[in-house]
Amino acid sequence: MKNFKNYKNLKVLVTGSTGFKGSWLCYWLHKEGAKVIGVGLKPEKDEKLFTALNLNKKIDQYYINILDYKKLANLIKIKRPDIIFHLAAKSLVFDGYHQPIETFKTNIIGSANILNLLRSNKNISLVYVTSDKCYLNNNKNLPFKEEDTLGGNDNYSASKAGAEIIFNSYFKSYFNQEKLRLASARAGNVIGGGDLKKNRIIPDIYKSIKSGKKLIIRNPQSVRPWQHVLEPLSGYLILGLKLLDRKFNKSVQPAWNFGPDNHNNKNVLNVVKKFLNVWNIKKRIVINKKSEFNESDYLKVNISKAKRQLNWRPKLNFDQSIKFTVDWYKIFSKNKNVENFTNDQINEYNSIK
Ligand SMILES: NC(=O)c1ccc[n+]([C@@H]2O[C@H](COP(=O)([O-])OP(=O)(O)OC[C@H]3O[C@@H](n4cnc5c(N)ncnc54)[C@H](O)[C@@H]3O)[C@@H](O)[C@H]2O)c1
Repeated sequence: MKNFKNYKNLKVLVTGSTGFKGSWLCYWLHKEGAKVIGVGLKPEKDEKLFTALNLNKKIDQYYINILDYKKLANLIKIKRPDIIFHLAAKSLVFDGYHQPIETFKTNIIGSANILNLLRSNKNISLVYVTSDKCYLNNNKNLPFKEEDTLGGNDNYSASKAGAEIIFNSYFKSYFNQEKLRLASARAGNVIGGGDLKKNRIIPDIYKSIKSGKKLIIRNPQSVRPWQHVLEPLSGYLILGLKLLDRKFNKSVQPAWNFGPDNHNNKNVLNVVKKFLNVWNIKKRIVINKKSEFNESDYLKVNISKAKRQLNWRPKLNFDQSIKFTVDWYKIFSKNKNVENFTNDQINEYNSIK
């Protein structure tokens, strides 16, 4: 079941290949012998992982905007992938506030472009990545189930709920009668080596360690479903294999949550303290009480469907996830070979039973 070697020689298109999760996914797929085709924008200043993993030499990369339907359609016509992992997005809550139109366009219209291409490409499977933020968050501190109401109290969350609503309408309109070949994936907050984006907690901690500047955090008590990047990616890969095999029976609904076990949901302050402790450094933590925008207090996801039906489960607890993350940044900060280290972390992760 979890034999990722089944990706060997498959043609796999990853959108968002130049980003944090996309780079890890492309690297992992390439390692398993897949022929990886990447679609994404040129890496920005704070996107160093793609280059650090030498992905430009490993995968067939195209710098295409997913809003350019013609170019996407042409690429798919020429490359004929077996499966698409759609991860391209404006991925920050913060950017959603400052660039709402770009966020809505990329996350909703860009995703609709991918869905639309599947209509005329009947052999392609799709893992369509949205977010745990797609749920209507009523701050009730209960883990969301896949059938819970979608919604969004900020633009990023609304864009992901929008992407899910469009997924549902395409699914019901065009794909409902076939064996399941497309699924949406809603993962929690992802941590792991190589993320250097602004306004994400791990990059903020790492940058403050490197610069020696004070560490300013927002919403220290906010609880999130933190998970190491390899956890949701392993879920996407298992889901992808099932879709490729057309293994699901008719009653299976196409949405899947991926997150940590409930007891590993922790607050922002827990993450900061653990990271600094594992790094073995003391730092003054300054809490910014004048947070510019609203963020929810609680966000948790119920992962029993993925456990039951995909035989997927989180392998790393909170402490191990932070340890994996700190170890990666330590290698990176010493300018050591992060490609080898990333490879070792995937091997270590795979070896956990
Ligand atoms: N990182 C997290 O904690 C997290 C949690 C839940 C869901 N997600 C979702 O997972 C996916 C990947 O997240 P990430 O953290 O790797 O994001 P990221 O910001 O690091 O990467 C985004 C990728 O999308 C590409 N992209 C953005 N706009 C594009 C466009 N118009 N055309 C083509 N490519 C475009 C970028 O070039 C980059 O490759 C996103 O859909 C994100 O919303 C992320």
